[in-house]
Formats: sequence, structure tokens, C-alpha cells
Amino acid sequence: MPQAADTRTTPAYRDSPAPLYQDVIKNDAHPAPPVVTEYSETAIDCSRVPRSQYTSPDFARLELERMWPRVWQVACREEQIPEVGDCVVYESPGASVLIVRNAPDEIKAFYNSCLHRGMKLCMQDTSVQKITCPFHGFTWNLDGSLAHVPARWDFPQIEDAKFHLRDVRVGRWGGFVFINRDKNAKPLEDYLGNLPAHFASWPRDSVYLAKMIRKTINANWKTCIEGFVESYHLSGIHAQALPFGGDSSTQYDVWPGNENISRFLEPTGVQSDQYPNRLNEQQVLDAAIRVVFGRDAEVPELPEGVRARTFLAEATRQAMSAADGRDYSQLSDAEAADAMQYSVFPNFILFRSLTYPYAYRFTPVRDNPNQAVFDFFIFRPKPADGSPLPETELVELGPEDSYSGSGALPPWLGQIYDQDSTGLAMCQEGLRDGGDADVIYSSYQEVRIRHLHQTLARYVAMPPL
Ligand code: FES
Ligand SMILES: [Fe+2]
Repeated sequence: MPQAADTRTTPAYRDSPAPLYQDVIKNDAHPAPPVVTEYSETAIDCSRVPRSQYTSPDFARLELERMWPRVWQVACREEQIPEVGDCVVYESPGASVLIVRNAPDEIKAFYNSCLHRGMKLCMQDTSVQKITCPFHGFTWNLDGSLAHVPARWDFPQIEDAKFHLRDVRVGRWGGFVFINRDKNAKPLEDYLGNLPAHFASWPRDSVYLAKMIRKTINANWKTCIEGFVESYHLSGIHAQALPFGGDSSTQYDVWPGNENISRFLEPTGVQSDQYPNRLNEQQVLDAAIRVVFGRDAEVPELPEGVRARTFLAEATRQAMSAADGRDYSQLSDAEAADAMQYSVFPNFILFRSLTYPYAYRFTPVRDNPNQAVFDFFIFRPKPADGSPLPETELVELGPEDSYSGSGALPPWLGQIYDQDSTGLAMCQEGLRDGGDADVIYSSYQEVRIRHLHQTLARYVAMPPL
């Protein structure tokens, strides 16, 4: 008979021989800080949704009218617009938005459309002194105030002081620039709930966007994000990681009253309860190292009593210290080796882990509920000497391009994301062509998906904005 679950760190109904996350980290050589030992209530009622929510143009239209205009979305990174006049075009669902640094420490956002006859003002990221429409030359200052109208005499109806580019709200946190099209939306600080507090003690916060891999995925934006917020798919999609991937020990947190934020804590160096054989620590380490470095990789022998995760955490601290020139020797094993992953409703994921200096953003492809754009952000620490940051490397991949073929990721990691993008496309095909049964979600391991749909349902019940 299974032991009664420890309800202080898991739901009472959990029934798995795999250890709880909090038990995994309890004896770590470098103990975890309070932000990692926290556990929160997980029950969310929303247990099923009609599959049409993933496939139907009508539901995508509801999202477009009611949800996307009201939510805070990551538009870009501050370092993508370092100088006054730098602009990023963010193709937000339903609106093209121009993000502009208009003063050294001020960022504004405008609808990317001319107030004359509607021309798109910027087609791509650029750097300008003034914002000039390419059609007839109407021009605005960087703060959105009107600068010039060619043949001004021909527009008696224009009142210069009121002819301001249409503002979109801007919020800033952690180097991310967020936008919100709803003038009445609550401030970003409220929207983000406990996220800033959870990142306040993260020592690797001074980073820049080194690389962005942008790939079109043949799946709805929700299919995509949902495929990344649970570890339950490890056995089906990433079976190579079952000996050490920690899927069955992952902790999932949602917080009462916090409708936008959730997280999981996925331990490294713990075998899955779906792996058929019991492994000793050396075998766990062997599997982990061979997935990363190849089948013939030499694996060090673990000293008596040392766990695989202890070894992996120390190896990570040392490798990242060497790569970054920073001292991570005091960092906890959990923060070094585990996947500590947060999501911000609706479409953003951010890791707080040394091993995973990543963020993800998923946006729907216009007029196509069966496709989304996956922006994969890869961060590096800023140079300690304050020297200028290298420009972000942009890699663009089409629906049929593979991560591993692009060379943009180490081979083992490219394989993981290829498995994900192939799996997501297969899931979307099944959703689209598979009859009318509802989609259902597990109580615990898919609680973050329930949480997403609970919040989404609240928005789509609102009137169009
Ligand atoms: S449409 Fe922009 S100046 Fe005419
Ligand atoms: Fe995956």
C-alpha cells in the first residue's frame, strides 16, 4: 500500500513511488532558499474544455476581441532598444505595436499605424530620430507628438496638439518591456502577482538577450504553452530523459487569488516512476551524461553516498562560472540544476535556473488557430566590465525546419525541442481532425493548464474591448 502523501507539499491523492520534490531537495548539499521550499494550493476546478477552443476560428476571434487586448504581454527586451530612437515592432495578436525608446530611461508604445490613411509606420525593428510614415510623410516625435504634416494647409481638420500617435500602455520588469492595450487594466506590478518577489533573490538577473530562435509551430498557441508547463509528457515525447528527468517528482504551484502566475519545480537526477527499472545513483548519472554528451561519453564514478543530482549541480555551477566569469559556488543545488519554471498568463514562460537561462513566448499566427510563433529567448550575463552588449542573434525557423538542423542549440537540446515541436503538431492534428470529445486535464500534473483555462474563461466571458 502506498504511504499517505505528505499534504504539506503535495495533494493528498498523489500515489507515486517517486519522491516528492521537497523530499528530493531536503538533503541537498547546497540547501534551497525559501522561494524553492514554498508549496501552494493546487486545486483548480476547470477540468475539461471543448476541443474547438484549440481549433476553431470563432474561438480564436473571441480571444482576439476579449482577451488579447486586455492582457499584459512581453513585447521585447530593454536591451533590444538601448539608444534613444531605437524601435521594436511587436506583432501582438490583433495589433501591431511600435515600442520606442524616446528618452534614455523612458519607453513608449504606439499603435504601429499612421493617423492619416493608416499606413503601417514601421515594418521592422529600426532606429530613427522621428517616426515618419512612408506613404505621405506625416511625422511624429519619439514621444508621439506631431512633428510635421506635408502640405499642412491641406488638413485644416487636424489640431496639432491632439494629433498624437495612439498610445499603448507600457510596463517594465526584469529587463522585459510589456504592453497592454487596455487603458483600464490593472498595473503590471499587480498583474505579475508574486513573480517579482520570487525573482528578487535570483543572482543571475543581470542578463541580456543573446539569442532568439523564432519558429513557427503547427499548433495553436495554447497547445504550445500547455506542452511546456507540464512534465507529464516526458515518457511519451522525451523518453531518453526518463532515467533522470524528475517528471514524476515535479512540484506544481498555483497560488490562491493569483490568476496569472504558476510554476513548476522539476528536479534533475531523479528517475521517473514510469521508467521500468530501479536505478542506482551511478546509473542515473550515466544516463544524464550520455544524453548530453553522447553514448560513448566517459562518466565519472560517484563517490560513495553522493547523489547524481549533487554531482550534476556542482558540474553546472562550475561550468556556468567558467562561462560567465561569475561565482556561483554558493548557489543551491535546486537553483543550479533543476527546472524552476514560471508562466505569466497568457503566453509567457520564464525560468529561474542556472541550467535553463531561457524564456518562451507563444503568439497565434493571424487567421490560423492551428499555428503559433514560438520565440525562444536565450540569455547570457551582461559583461561585468560594462562593455556594450553584443547584438541579439536572431534565428528564424519555418514549420518544417528542425532545431537540431539549425545548429542554434547544442544537439541534445535541439533534439528535445524537435521532439516538442513535432509532438505539438501531432497533438494539433488530432485536435483538429479527431471528432468532438472534450479535452481533459489531470488534477495535479496539469494543474497549470487548468489554471490557464480558468483565467482565459474569465476573459472570453467579458464583452469585446
Ligand atoms: S498614410 Fe501616413 S502619411 Fe499618408
Ligand atoms: Fe517537452
